[in-house]
Amino acid sequence: MKAKITLLPGDGIGPEIVDATRQVLETVAGKSGHSFAFSTHLIGGIAIDETGVPLPDDTIVACRSADAVLLGAVGGPKWDDPTASVRPEQGLLGMRKALKLFANVRPVKLYRGLEAASPLKAERLRGVDLVFIRELTGGIYFGQPKGKETRNGLRTGFDTMVYDENEIRRIVELAFDVARKRSKRVTSIDKANVLQTMQVWREVATEVGKANPDVQLEHQLVDSAAMRLVTNPSSFDVIVSGNMFGDILSDEGAVLTGSLGLLPSASLGEGKLGVYEPIHGSAPDIAGRGIANPLGTILSAAMLLRHSLSLDEDAKRIEDAVQKVLDNGLRTADLGGGTSALGTTQMAQAVMAAIEGA
Ligand code: IPM
Ligand code: MG
Repeated sequence: MKAKITLLPGDGIGPEIVDATRQVLETVAGKSGHSFAFSTHLIGGIAIDETGVPLPDDTIVACRSADAVLLGAVGGPKWDDPTASVRPEQGLLGMRKALKLFANVRPVKLYRGLEAASPLKAERLRGVDLVFIRELTGGIYFGQPKGKETRNGLRTGFDTMVYDENEIRRIVELAFDVARKRSKRVTSIDKANVLQTMQVWREVATEVGKANPDVQLEHQLVDSAAMRLVTNPSSFDVIVSGNMFGDILSDEGAVLTGSLGLLPSASLGEGKLGVYEPIHGSAPDIAGRGIANPLGTILSAAMLLRHSLSLDEDAKRIEDAVQKVLDNGLRTADLGGGTSALGTTQMAQAVMAAIEGA
């Protein structure tokens, strides 16, 4: 197979981890006889610096014409001025909207041997294997009106949380599809005790549940779900939520595994095109030092192979190689590597060696 992959390294550690992951993808391609054509484009702070906007038109064109997109991270202190008219994050949000990527899939899996890196006690962690399905192009992130203005002499900010039933139905149905391939349990997150939007959310989720009785559906309020994630995380399987609740809960869920550095994500729409990125941010404090953990991006590339290119075997090759290097005790600094910690390139090379050797 020949596939076009658009790379969006972005800011901070983005360029380092994306470059390392590109090499892993090339290794996989070499092993299985595929050919991947890469092209690199601007997004985020670096795009603001070079073009004045966080999402240049040619980046969107390059994403639309690709089979899949691999993204590093956006943002950093350089562009953090709250009064600035453009921000790197607008690039990411704009891309999700432009490519209609309404679903963000974030699997949280505990890797063997990393239990000690988790903030939770080992007995609470046993059996944790869950996936967040977060709505990504609606809710309070995009609802209108939003803005800042002076009201009665007071600086006032406002955003609107809004979901229509179609937006809710398609994300809940997607969660059901994912659950069917797992343990057939979905937890729908809302705040139906307070928010009107979330009453509609619960109504529609309930309808989807009635229409699909093969999957068990439960509803949980977002605050108590946040608590259950740390007290009994293994009781979850598929968690579906709106945009903002999913943003918050998925970071909480991710850190259960010990490091944000390990976790991949996929942003998907109706078709095969997807944007794949590690869930951690641009980590400006360690950018350019060659010590960032590339595994979250490498595992995102595995999701890319599976979802956008239907190369399940190659995806599995990457995932097995990652487990193997972890089994061999190899660690980056964030995974507690200490004085023997591997750098970004070394870790990627270890994964490549494991793929070659398999
Ligand atoms: C995420 C990030 C983004 C979000 C930011 C960078 C805009 O936190 O992908 O979870 O809030 O969606
Ligand atoms: Mg987030």
